[in-house]
Amino acid sequence: MAGINRNYDKLSSSYLFVEISKRTKAFAESHPGIRILRLGIGDTTEPLTPSVIRSLHLGVDKLADPKRYTGYGDEQGDARLRGAISEFYSRRKITVSPEEIFVSDGAKPDAANIQSIFEQGSIIAVQDPAYPVYVDSNVIAGRTGLSKGVTYDGILYMPCTEENGFFPSLPEKKADIIYLCSPNNPTGAVATREDLRRFVEYARENKSIIVFDAAYHSFVSDQKIPRSIYEIEGARECAIEINSFSKSSGFTGVRLGWSVVPMDLVVEGTPKGRVNALWKRRQSTMFNGASNIAQEGGIAAISEEGIIENQAVIDKYMANARAIRECFIGKGMKVFGGVNAPYLWIKTPGDMKSWEFFDKMLNEAHVVVTPGSGFGPSGEGYIRVSAFGHPEMISEAIDSVKANLKV
Ligand SMILES: Cc1ncc(COP(=O)(O)O)c(C=O)c1O
Repeated sequence: MAGINRNYDKLSSSYLFVEISKRTKAFAESHPGIRILRLGIGDTTEPLTPSVIRSLHLGVDKLADPKRYTGYGDEQGDARLRGAISEFYSRRKITVSPEEIFVSDGAKPDAANIQSIFEQGSIIAVQDPAYPVYVDSNVIAGRTGLSKGVTYDGILYMPCTEENGFFPSLPEKKADIIYLCSPNNPTGAVATREDLRRFVEYARENKSIIVFDAAYHSFVSDQKIPRSIYEIEGARECAIEINSFSKSSGFTGVRLGWSVVPMDLVVEGTPKGRVNALWKRRQSTMFNGASNIAQEGGIAAISEEGIIENQAVIDKYMANARAIRECFIGKGMKVFGGVNAPYLWIKTPGDMKSWEFFDKMLNEAHVVVTPGSGFGPSGEGYIRVSAFGHPEMISEAIDSVKANLKV
């Protein structure tokens, strides 16, 4: 008799975005004619850059030509793209060889699937608050107990608070797999070199693995802030880096990402290279490669020319972030993030709960934000505001907050 994977029953329902859309819909229905402004979404809005568009067209043209047509691609991704990604790291004085790079259809699937190559009994540690996929994938894999509201038994939560600058202290108990994300979704905080050095040291001492999500690397403008975990000495022995073209190049719909599994990565009881071989086995068994058209576009996006073009788009989003920062600071509120990240993490006034302030923003300013409590218990009392959006809509939202929000 077939049965379902009962671990799915443990997942707390995708309450956050369902509830946001329910409340937004109810407001729209009871206030017809009011324009609702959305600062809650982490999706890109600006068009792809010219060199990427040319390259995507080239990918399509090749498929129309019998001499240049290609079907299934290289096992770990197009060798030219892996070469370009390796180059991208070497321009930043980081050595990552093409055989250590695995091209995928995005950072989310990699972040979800990477746990499958590690022991079932592994203890998982996550930042609190965090992007939900790190926890949910481990719930589905059966590494946790039941949900207790937004947390699960068996997961180590590392609180990110105002006191620690929204980057956590080391886990209190021994963790085997540690998920870190910098620049961070949702807090917009970035880890310093010293922050990451502490975690790399911990991981090497405890033979743990760090899964480092660098999806927002290109939003870092401060030269002192690492954009890759491999800027830290020793990280090649203990860290996997997950990366994406989504936010750096506007590929949220095109779909392209990569992961780095270094040959030096050591897991107890296995020789060097074994983790890389396992991920290769996992991907070649369960994934058949990213689209060849998307990969053609990726080669342009990660070239020197592509990065310069994309930087102009990122600058646009960061101008939005600056304007949003100034607006909420002007309202006398405490604003974090939004300097090296496209997210702002804003303390609610007067210790209001995240959802209470969500309602206030919607009712008074007609602006939709994301309640911080949906990302973990330490997110209570905060909202996440996204700088992704057309500048005209962002400035309309800012004007409305300035004029209508009563704090
Ligand atoms: C931290 C983080 N990682 C990964 C992703 C997803 O990346 P991708 O579009 O490449 O799957 C997101 C998307 O919002 C994110 O916030």
